[in-house]
Order: sequence, then structure tokens, then C-alpha cells
Amino acid sequence: MEKNFDINALREILHQNTTQMTGKYTYREIDESSIYSELEDIFIISPQRLREICKVFVKEMEDGLKSDNCTLKMIPSFVTNRPTGKEVGTYLALDLGGTNFRVCEINLEGQSKVRLRAKKFTIPDSAKTADQTVLFDFLAESIAIFIKEYNINTESDINLGFTFSFPVQQTALNKGTILLWNKGFNCANSIGKDVVNLLSEALARKQLKVNVVALVNDTVGTLMSHAYVDPGTCVGVILGTGTNAAYVETIDAIPKWTGGPVKSNEMIINSEWGAFDNERKVLPWTKYDEQQDAAGTNPGKQTFEKMISGMYLGEIVRLVCKDLIDRKILFGGMSSTEMDTPGKFETAYMSRIERDHTAELTDTKMVLQEILKIPYVAPRDRRIVRRICELVAIRAARLAACGVAAVVTKMNRVDSGCTVAIDGSVYEHYPHFDSRMRDALHELFGMFSENVSLQLGKDGSGIGAAVIAALADK
Ligand code: GLC
Repeated sequence: MEKNFDINALREILHQNTTQMTGKYTYREIDESSIYSELEDIFIISPQRLREICKVFVKEMEDGLKSDNCTLKMIPSFVTNRPTGKEVGTYLALDLGGTNFRVCEINLEGQSKVRLRAKKFTIPDSAKTADQTVLFDFLAESIAIFIKEYNINTESDINLGFTFSFPVQQTALNKGTILLWNKGFNCANSIGKDVVNLLSEALARKQLKVNVVALVNDTVGTLMSHAYVDPGTCVGVILGTGTNAAYVETIDAIPKWTGGPVKSNEMIINSEWGAFDNERKVLPWTKYDEQQDAAGTNPGKQTFEKMISGMYLGEIVRLVCKDLIDRKILFGGMSSTEMDTPGKFETAYMSRIERDHTAELTDTKMVLQEILKIPYVAPRDRRIVRRICELVAIRAARLAACGVAAVVTKMNRVDSGCTVAIDGSVYEHYPHFDSRMRDALHELFGMFSENVSLQLGKDGSGIGAAVIAALADK
């Protein structure tokens, strides 16, 4: 079939002539391939478009290094040294900002060896959107539980690295004001306040003898913890609930830096790339992205993140499905309360559906019927939903690769190469995410893509906070 046919006109003709009854559900007999073409047209990003995005990305990074009033915040982290792998010591770390909140005890043993004991806590949804004291008291209480359960010696004050994965304007290694909440958090009375003070006050309310010595973004932590074992690491990326990247920049390339000379002449920059293209100049934004954005807690913000990360991918799939249901193309036009509820189509279901290699797509049927309560799911419906998941996830991986390519280009490392440490549930668990990113890098850099080594940096955010605390101790 011609690629440029009018899909809507075709759909109307087909609907008028061939609406059929299958059991008790009405199906519109539309050729599956025309549905795929429609979706592919809006979700597939061509190599040419990847290159354009990458170019704009580099430009936005440069702008952000000049001034604070830009789309990309490009925040100096006050981390100016990379580890040697010889750092030693025992530290506490708090890791807040993903799906789970963790308290960790980290033992840096030198020789690039680390021992970690960690406990996960579930943050009550109510604490994510109440007054900041509710959240920070919860954090302090969790530390108290951890100290008791793991018998941590607090006779002399213990040092803690705080991984706080939200945009913060840092003013020192252990000082920074909250700029914005995202990923479902929105605590009252906190914007513009110093995060370390908020935590220290909550610790004092519980009479806990803990010093907060470093405030760290998870991307900076990921970079630093990987650099503890691989000194060639220059970039840290998170592809999880949210997405972001940090990288090593030279001080001379940061015109907005007013902190004076730095011995290493290096600064790790937290790019806050989730905000890339908030002006919607270059990203292939669709009506589904628009709907998700309008219904969320921070419309107009985190545009790039909303197309890539785990908090949002499932919702995009749900919105596409809803559209096809409303047009009677999917599930015979039958929906369910679950399918109609924002957030109910989890990104984890997409992984499960993409992992379903059975001939009848039986696990896909299970997700749609048992979890999402769609009354009848024909084999054709399963195939369509699977393709939607693939397209949304491929777009995410290609955009993530574009971000990595932009950072590597900005660092002038396409030729000389570098290690990119990546952490987060989407990168670690989503099927083919890594290979889809590598394909896109290859489209962008050709054979030079081999110079960019993508590596899983597991538990990086917590360990990195300890590494940074250890460097601060020196
Ligand atoms: C959001 C936050 C950012 C964090 C990222 C990954 O984009 O703004 O600070 O690094 O999520 O957790």
C-alpha cells in the first residue's frame, strides 16, 4: 500500500462498509498493517531526525553552561575530583528520588572494592505531596530504623552522603536549594529551601548523630561509583523512574562558574537533561505525549523525561490504546476501569509484553485480561498492543541514545572514547533497551560508536554518595 494514503478516510470507508459483529463485540475491520503504519509514522525517529535532535541538544548544553536561566540547568555539582579506587571508610547513604527510597551503609575498602548493606523503604504516597516535614521526618525515621536494625555505631557522629535526585541549585558540596519536584513528588514549603538543612533539622528532631557531608544527584553518584572501579568513566546516566545525565566538564568551558579556580580544572555537571526541549522545538512530540503532559503534576516541564523514563512510558501506551479503543480499532471498542485510569498501565507490563515470545501471546493476554480487566482480547489485539509497546520503547531508547551522543560530542570524546555508566530500572530490566540504544548510537556515530562503552552501573547512586563523602573527608 502507498505510504501517503489518508488513513482517516480509509478508516471511515472501512467502518461504513465492513463493521462486523464478533461474538458480542463490534470490530472495525481495519487492516493491521495500516494501524502499524499510522503508529510507526509518529513514533519512529529517523537517523536524520536523531542527528537534528543531537545538534540542538549540544547547543542547549552550551547555553546552560553560560547562564542559569536556560532549559538545561547544567548544574555544577561541586564534585571536582574523580576517585582513584583507593578511598576507604564507612559511610551512610540515603538514596531518594526513584521508585524506592533506600538507606545504605557503605564500606569502601580501597582497591576498588565496596561492601554494601541496604534497606528499602516505601514512601507513603501521602508523604510525597504533603508538607516537606512529613517527608523529611519519614526519611529521618527510616535512618533511625536502619541504625537500630543493623547495629550501626553512632557513638562518634557518622557521615552521610545524601543522594537527592531532583533539580537542586547547588551552592556547596553539602548545600543546595530545591528548584523543582518531579516524578510524582510535590512537597509544600520546600522550593527554595536548602535540602541538607531540611534533612539535618529532621535528624535533630529525632536526636540522631548523623552529619550530612555531601548532597549528590543520582547521576553524579552513578558516575563516581563507576569511576571508583573504572577510571575511564566520564558520564553517569539514569534511565529509571526519571532520566538524567552527569558528565565531566572542564572549568574553562563553564562561563557561569564564579567559584574561582579549581585544582583539577574539572567539574562534574548535572545536566538535568529531563528538561531538554521543554519548548518543543525538535522532539517528535505526539498527541499522546500532549495528553500525558497536560494531565500530570508538572505540565510543560520534563519534556524529554516524559518520552523516555519508567514513570511515563506505560502511560503513553495506555493513551494510545485508549485512542484505538475509542476508535473501535482495539478490543472491539471495549475498555475497562483499569484501562481508563491514568497510571494503571505500568511500564513493567510493557517489559512483560515485549518478553512474551509465545505464538499466541498468552502472557500479553494475561496482562490485558487478568490485570487490566479487558473483557475480550483477540490475538489481533495482543499483536497490536505488543507493537505499541515496542514502538514507545524503541523511541525512548533512541532518544536516550541521542542524549548520550550529545554529551559525548560536547566532551569531544567521539574519537577518544569514554565509559558511560548507566543505572536505573528501564536500562537494567527493559528488554532490548541497551541494544536499541547501541543501534541508534551506531546510526549517529558510525564505527566511532564502538568508542562509547555503555555499562551498567548498579547501585551507583548510593555508593557514589559514599565515594563523594570519602573524597570530602580527605
Ligand atoms: C529527574 C530529576 C533528576 C534525576 C532524574 C533521575 O529528572 O530531576 O535530578 O537525576 O530524575 O532520577
